[in-house]
Amino acid sequence: MATLTIWSESGGVGKTTTALNLAAALGRDEYEVLVVDFDPQPASLTDHAGYTKRKKADREATIVDALLDEEISVTDVRIEDELFDLVPAHESLASLESTVRAEQISMAEFLLRSALEPVESEYDFILIDPPATLNLLVDNALIASGNVLIPVEMTRKGERSAEGVIETVEALERQLQRAQPEFTLNVVGVLPNKVSGSTLNREVRTSLQESDIELLPVTVPDYNVLEQAWNAQLDIFRFADHDEHGLRPYQEQLPEVYRALADSVIERMETESATRQVSVE
Ligand SMILES: Nc1ncnc2c1ncn2[C@@H]1O[C@H](COP(=O)(O)OP(=O)(O)OP(=O)(O)O)[C@@H](O)[C@H]1O
Ligand SMILES: [Mg+2]
Repeated sequence: MATLTIWSESGGVGKTTTALNLAAALGRDEYEVLVVDFDPQPASLTDHAGYTKRKKADREATIVDALLDEEISVTDVRIEDELFDLVPAHESLASLESTVRAEQISMAEFLLRSALEPVESEYDFILIDPPATLNLLVDNALIASGNVLIPVEMTRKGERSAEGVIETVEALERQLQRAQPEFTLNVVGVLPNKVSGSTLNREVRTSLQESDIELLPVTVPDYNVLEQAWNAQLDIFRFADHDEHGLRPYQEQLPEVYRALADSVIERMETESATRQVSVE
């Protein structure tokens, strides 16, 4: 079992798109996959995967209950599906931080890690999609996963953000190591996303390659069809197979790109035994 957070401090760079299509690629390869949508904003992975986010008034248990209520577990809030299971997000995730403060909950950064523990043995991969802004949700995602994949756009801004995310991850790792010396956060790699082949794209790529930043051998092209797939609430594999949608010949490589990403991530990801040594007791 391995757990991976897809994260960048920059908004809109493709974290959710990457998480969903990577999950679909792994699911197609017969792996048991759980995706945790940990982003309270309305247009999050839950929506992309074809589900409507539940509202505050709903009485049903949500991810927040699984985090805070000992009686409720992830199994009570997950949706089981053919390709992968999903823990849908809920808008009340936005107030987790204030709830934790008001109720003086300790070790609040470890809530997700504890909540996932009982279901870990059921899955080969758990993917977590947190929001961009560094906050308690991101801390929870990174601590629960031990592995992070960073999508970036091949622009100057993307280059800076890749450096920034790696520094943030290293700082968090050092902070946690004060309490748990064995804790490691493995940067699986930087994924160039929305790549167009422009001169700027090539320059940024070269410059990132020359730095210490580990670029994955896979790049995801800038194809509007990924947005169309989101609008249709389908991953790119289902979109490609769908009677009303489908891919044009020049886009047909896209499912293969996410399959190659899955291979590359598997190769670089540290597994349970190597990284998950923080005990929460
Ligand atoms: N390779 C790509 N080519 C074209 N469009 C893309 C690509 N990847 C993502 N997009 C589009 O870019 C937009 C932002 O993507 P996405 O929501 O996945 O980013 P994000 O990093 O999760 O954003 P946020 O920070 O808000 O969580 C979406 O409309 C998505 O369809
Ligand atoms: Mg997102």
